[in-house]
Amino acid sequence: MDKSIWRRKPISAFEADIKNNQLKRVLGKWSLTAIGIGAIIGGGIFVLTGTAAHYHAGPALALSFVVAGIGCIFAALCYAEFASMLPVEGSAYAYAYGTIGELFAWAIGWGLILEYAMGAMTVAVSWSGYFNKLLHLFGIEIPFWLRNDPVSAGQFARDNGLAEPSFALNLPAFFIVWVVTYILIKGIKEAASANNVIVILKLAAIIFIILVGAFFVHTQNWVPFIPAVELVEHADGTMKEAYGWAGVLSGASAIFFAYIGFDAVSTQAGEAINPSKDMPFAIIMSLVICTVLYILVSLVLTGMISYKDITGDALKAPVAFAFDKAGQPWAVFIITAAATAGLISVMLVMMLGQTRVFLGMAKDGLIPGFFKEIHPTYKTPWKSTILVGTLVSVVAAFTPIGLLGDMTSFGTLFAFAMVCLAVLILRFRDPNRERPFKAPFLTIVAPLGILVNTVLILMLDGLAQKLAFGWLLLGLIVYFAYGRPNSFLNNYKED
Ligand code: ALA
Repeated sequence: MDKSIWRRKPISAFEADIKNNQLKRVLGKWSLTAIGIGAIIGGGIFVLTGTAAHYHAGPALALSFVVAGIGCIFAALCYAEFASMLPVEGSAYAYAYGTIGELFAWAIGWGLILEYAMGAMTVAVSWSGYFNKLLHLFGIEIPFWLRNDPVSAGQFARDNGLAEPSFALNLPAFFIVWVVTYILIKGIKEAASANNVIVILKLAAIIFIILVGAFFVHTQNWVPFIPAVELVEHADGTMKEAYGWAGVLSGASAIFFAYIGFDAVSTQAGEAINPSKDMPFAIIMSLVICTVLYILVSLVLTGMISYKDITGDALKAPVAFAFDKAGQPWAVFIITAAATAGLISVMLVMMLGQTRVFLGMAKDGLIPGFFKEIHPTYKTPWKSTILVGTLVSVVAAFTPIGLLGDMTSFGTLFAFAMVCLAVLILRFRDPNRERPFKAPFLTIVAPLGILVNTVLILMLDGLAQKLAFGWLLLGLIVYFAYGRPNSFLNNYKED
């Protein structure tokens, strides 16, 4: 019996998993593409563009989107090759298990919890913010202690001279996670239909914003397109260098969160009708569509207003601010409604992805069998979905989670870099394997993917890096205490 941390899951075991799949195969290539878009377009594009333009890139924000988009395309091509070869749920985790080894696969699966579960928490809190704004537009206010976690509610009370509440929770965040959990338990078809509707709505809103915004562009705002390097004052009073090519790069790291999600397509292999063909298509198509839209939104934004004017409250809602300044306040309503609806599908896909990664890990014995129990009627991993829903809703309702956005990016970038590495290793180790989709120029694409994604990790917030690193160390302890002794590879015999 191979006891090494480098032991790999044999291809015959993957084939057995594919044969024993209990999930419903209902997703075609466009539903899968909608899953990708559903996860990608969220609050990121409406919020992060302001910070990235003002503090990092200026009008060259569009180039930051190109850089981050290229980093993602490298990873997407590698994901696509893997998804065509090993069409099993679990995504990057499963790919690493079949190629690099168990410990690596575990670290990736553990890192993906940062992307999917923590991503869902972050998004639930953002959703609450948009939902409250939408209610506000209709003149409705939820009491502050029912729309903030206890720490934020205390801060709000002190800032506004109110009595500190003895109890507080972010009720909208809590509530929406349970709506999503319910849809996910009911069935993949229901989840995909809900996602399709939301995706159509948010694509329509984004295209509308681009088309209308184009009428208010003043081209002089784009000149100079890449401003010369200068010192810019940040909210904490510190002066930091901005703009130039370095600013384009740090801007790419700042907006990376907006791209997160296309890889979630790769967790859906068990539910795809024709995974080896349709998943590569959906991964690449969803990313390309969103990259084009993002570049256009950023051009419109930096053309409508000068990046220098995006300060104070405008940083929180730069796109709405630009439209307000152009005398089009109705856009605030469209953006708020689009983000409120749009973020639901981001949560939907992230929580879906999380449960499917757990399903893959549980099938391999690395986490308890509880995570692979499939509901007899709905054919979904319902117990695991309820557990993920409980965790995500409680954390979103009761903790201040400002840092989680960067930790989510860390988990994602880590998985991207690892997938690029794993696909490259497999090309050399097993060059003759059938590859229904072959990433072009892999010997260039994969190393560049590793490089770009590692650079973006290094540019994330320092504290978030440390916390994410601590999370991976905790994962190591769990692996040696539980995963390794319970791995099915301990008793696996190839026939
Ligand atoms: N890409 C997703 C968003 O921007 C996570 O909300």
